[in-house]
Amino acid sequence: MIALSPTSSKFPDTPAFKGLNRPSRVECDIVGLEVDGELPADLRGSFYRCGPDPQFPPLLGDDIFINGDGVVSAFHIRDGRVDYSSRFVRTAKFLAERAAGRSLFGAYRNPYTDAPEAAGLDRTTANTSMLWHAGRLYALKEDGRPHRIDPDTLATLETWDFDGALQSRTFTAHPKTDPASGELVFFGYQAGGGESSPVAFGTAVDGLLKFEEWFEPPYVSMIHDWAVTQNHVVFPVMPVTMDVERMRRGGPRWAWDPSRESVLVVMPRSGDTRHARAFTGPALWSFHVMNAFEEGSDVHIDLCLAQAAPMPAVDGSFPPREASAQYLTRVTCALGTDDAAFSMRRLWGDMPVDFPEIDQRRATLPYRHGFVAARDPRRELPPEAQYGGIWFNCLAHVDHHTGEVERYYVGPGGTVQEPVFAPRTPDSEEGDGYLLAVVNHFPEALGSLLVFDTRSLSSGPVAAVKVPLFLRPTFHGMWLSAADRDASKA
Ligand SMILES: [Fe+2]
Repeated sequence: MIALSPTSSKFPDTPAFKGLNRPSRVECDIVGLEVDGELPADLRGSFYRCGPDPQFPPLLGDDIFINGDGVVSAFHIRDGRVDYSSRFVRTAKFLAERAAGRSLFGAYRNPYTDAPEAAGLDRTTANTSMLWHAGRLYALKEDGRPHRIDPDTLATLETWDFDGALQSRTFTAHPKTDPASGELVFFGYQAGGGESSPVAFGTAVDGLLKFEEWFEPPYVSMIHDWAVTQNHVVFPVMPVTMDVERMRRGGPRWAWDPSRESVLVVMPRSGDTRHARAFTGPALWSFHVMNAFEEGSDVHIDLCLAQAAPMPAVDGSFPPREASAQYLTRVTCALGTDDAAFSMRRLWGDMPVDFPEIDQRRATLPYRHGFVAARDPRRELPPEAQYGGIWFNCLAHVDHHTGEVERYYVGPGGTVQEPVFAPRTPDSEEGDGYLLAVVNHFPEALGSLLVFDTRSLSSGPVAAVKVPLFLRPTFHGMWLSAADRDASKA
C-alpha cells in the first residue's frame, strides 16, 4: 500500500471518500439541462442546496464525510428551462488551503490537529444549509457565522454579523423563519467560540437584530437542530458531548455519552432566559426537527429520534447500527403541569428517516403535512452506498391528520437526498405543491432532480431534470420562489 503524504494529490481509499461519498469538487454553470417529462408551468424559482466536498485530500490521511468544504449549488427553474450552478464557499479555510495548494486544517472541529499555517484562522466550512432572509442568501454551518452568497452567481460576498451587532461567534444551520411575520429566530451554541459553553439565542427582523441573550446549557453538547413555536423555543441538549483532553490527543470533538440524560430546555421565544424550564428523559439522539407547535399548554416537537447517535461513544465503542436509526417521533413538553419529564409518541415506525421537510408556511404552527427521506432496508442496497454516509432510497409524505403515509421508492441503484417543498401557488392549501429531490443513479453515478406533485407522490416524478455530473450528497436546501426573489428586488 502506498502511504499518503500531506501533499498527496490522491484521496484515501477509505469509506469517507468512496462510492456515494467520493469527492466531486466541481464548480460549474450548465445552461439548459435536459428534462424528461413536463416541468410544471407554475414552478418558478431556485432550489438552493449546501453540502460538504473536500477541496484537497485530508491533512491527516483520512477524515469524516461531514468535514468537507462547503459547496452551494442552485437549480434555477423558469419557463420550462433549468440551469444549474455550483461553487465552493470562499471561507477563510478554503482560501488559505487554495493558496497553499493543500489541506491545512485537520480533524472535524479539532484545531489541535491543524497545520501551523492554520493557526488563528476561522475553521468553519459553511457546508450545511442555506438561509434566505431580508432579501439575502446565506450559507450556514453551526460552528461559525453565516456567509452571504450572491443568489445569481453563487459568489461568496462576506461573512455576516448583523453589521457588527451579533455577539455570538456561532450561528445554527437551522434557524427558523416565522411565516407570518418573517421574523428570523436563531441560536448559536458554544457562542463564545472554541470550546466555550454558552448558548446564544436571538431574533431578527428585516436583517436587524432584535435581541440576543446568552445562557448556560445543562452541559455542552452538539445542538444541531432545535424547535420554535409561536411562543416558545426548545433547545434539545442530547448527550453528544465534548472532551477537550480527547481533542488535544487528536481524538474527535464529539462522542456519544449514554450515561447522561437528554434535557429539553424550553423558554419563551420573546427572549427571557430566566424563564427557562428543563424537561428530562433518557439518552436519545436527533439530528433534525420536522416542526413544532403548541396545543393548549403543551409544546409538541416532531423530530427524527434515535436511541443513540451514529458516532463513537466516549468509551470508544460504536453504538449498534439499529440503535442509531431515527424514527419520526412526537415529543411533548407539558408546560401546564409540574411534570419534569418529556413524553414521546412514535408517529411513523415503518422506516428510519431523516431530512424532514414541511410546507414552510406552517413553520412554528399546527400543521398537517410532512415529508422525509426514508430508508427501506428490505430493498437492495446500491454497492456505492455500502460505505455509509447519506443514503436513502424512499421519499415519504406523512399526513398527520389521517396518519397515512404515501411513499415513493427511487428504484435499484438510486439514492435520494433531502426533499424540499415548493407551494403550488402562494395561497394554495398546506402541502399542495411540489416536492423536489436530487437522486444519484448508480452505477452511472449521474444525478437528476426529480419533481413530484404532492397530490400523488407515489405516482412518481412529473419531471426529471438530468445533470451530467455526480452530485455529491448535500445536507440541506431551500426553495426560493421567483415571486419572493422578485419581491426582494422591489
Ligand atoms: Fe442539519
